[in-house]
Amino acid sequence: FSRDMNSLNPFKLVGKELSGIAKSFEEAVAVNHPVLQRAASYFLNITGKRFRPTIVILMAYAVNATHSRRVDSTSARDSDESHSMESSPHILPSQLKLAEIAELIHVASLLHDDVIDVADTRRGVKSVNALFGNQLSVLAGDFLLSRASVSLARLRNCDVVELLSTVIEHLVHGEVLQMTADEDNSKDKLEVYLQKTFLKTASLIANSCQAVALLSNCPKEIVQVAFEYGRHLGLAYQLVDDALDFTGTSSSLGKPALADIHQGTLTAPVLFAIEQFPEIREYAKRRFQYPDDISKTLGAVEKSKGIERTLDLAKEHCCLAKEGITQTLQDTSYRQALLEMADFVLTRKQ
Ligand code: FPP
Ligand code: MG
Ligand code: MG
Repeated sequence: FSRDMNSLNPFKLVGKELSGIAKSFEEAVAVNHPVLQRAASYFLNITGKRFRPTIVILMAYAVNATHSRRVDSTSARDSDESHSMESSPHILPSQLKLAEIAELIHVASLLHDDVIDVADTRRGVKSVNALFGNQLSVLAGDFLLSRASVSLARLRNCDVVELLSTVIEHLVHGEVLQMTADEDNSKDKLEVYLQKTFLKTASLIANSCQAVALLSNCPKEIVQVAFEYGRHLGLAYQLVDDALDFTGTSSSLGKPALADIHQGTLTAPVLFAIEQFPEIREYAKRRFQYPDDISKTLGAVEKSKGIERTLDLAKEHCCLAKEGITQTLQDTSYRQALLEMADFVLTRKQ
């Protein structure tokens, strides 16, 4: 994350909180079996971008600041006191826990995903399935989900439990939709792709943002703004991911490049390329399974505006994410960092 001197680094701003979460993971996945322990904690120790917990923590601070200011202004106390409330940012223990739970669910889904995608690397290292086998990878994922569920229950907030439980359903639904997306000819392909993208990526971010807002007890309109920020940012994140799958290399990404097309998965760059080169539609329909399907499709994507249009769409979602919070949340360094996160999503290379 390298930007000019004036912009703040969101990951650094919440560095302390992220370190706290890393410590807390040790307890969260402690289990009296060495192999299960190692497989389950593997990607909690080899940390990635920590994109999700960072967003959740920033959103918690940002909504808390907005909410406490509103409480202050309606309670007509002297302005000195309300000022001091504004300048002391705070986060609730339950909100920090939620950042941890979001990462646990995310890592659980990755352990399953690498089995489904037959991926042997992730985060620049061997995947859990490559090291421990498919069965253990699936079981370690299930174990993380169960620990996430226990942590969630301990928050003693049924609405929040419901939101994050629904996310797990969405992850599964999104993955199944991706596997079967080409079977329904009656639906608009871009629409199905965006629905799938919400389910497999944006839902976790959106619902986690909504959950921290609920935990702060803030008004409904702020809860909705938090959800929409996460939704737009999540959609943008996956659109960029799908572009990077074509433009990145396995070493720059730390995971296999061109993974989607090799999996037979139709993503935005190809969907847009089909509009300019309709002849590749049939390759996509048969999931790029015949010789030359992949090379011809890659050629078409390169000649087309597929990548450009994918990134343009990501940009649109980032703008919408920024717009919502700019209009509603109080101007704090945390809101600023949430805006920076939108730029990070667009410029990231891994
Ligand atoms: C990564 O996508 C995968 C996901 C965002 C979700 C995967 C969800 C499942 C496997 C369903 C089961 C999940 C649970 C929690 C039971 P990708 O393969 O496009 O990205 P990658 O390049 O990072 O592998
Ligand atoms: Mg994958
Ligand atoms: Mg996948």
